[in-house]
Amino acid sequence: MLQPLPCLYALALACLLLWPWTGHAQDAAAGQEIYTQYCALCHGPEGKGDGSLSANLDPKPRNHTDGAYMNALSDAHLLKVIGDGGAAAGLSPIMPAWKDILSAQQIQDVVAFVRTLAVPPYTPPADE
Ligand code: HEC
Repeated sequence: MLQPLPCLYALALACLLLWPWTGHAQDAAAGQEIYTQYCALCHGPEGKGDGSLSANLDPKPRNHTDGAYMNALSDAHLLKVIGDGGAAAGLSPIMPAWKDILSAQQIQDVVAFVRTLAVPPYTPPADE
């Protein structure tokens, strides 16, 4: 006779053990949701720096579609600006720090999404 309960326990245990390997380093789709919720107000829904709050800001929120500018920035720099805020990287304090609101994983994800916006497209350096 089949015993469903022990099978379920085994499955749950397997999931638990495999959990750390199922996530991936950066998830741009998850990043897009975060971006829409937290960043689009200033940076615009498409990342062009034209969000509804942007009109009166000086400097303007960065245009993330500007690949000529954005592609020169390292992941480490983007993680710092987004996590610690603009002021921590010598930029405007209008760019908020997100590390108390977003997890490290969420910040990785939002960087992955920001990378998808650049025109011309972003290509990671060979050593990453
Ligand atoms: C209150 C408005 C505001 C919000 C909300 C905001 N930003 Fe910004 N952001 C700015 C401004 C203004 C700048 C430009 C700073 C400067 O040029 O000195 C900026 C700059 C940046 C830069 C460019 C850094 C560089 O080196 O040029 C990145 C990347 C960035 N923001 C990402 C984000 C992400 C991701 C979010 C959401 C988690 C976000 N921002 C939310 C206002 C905002």
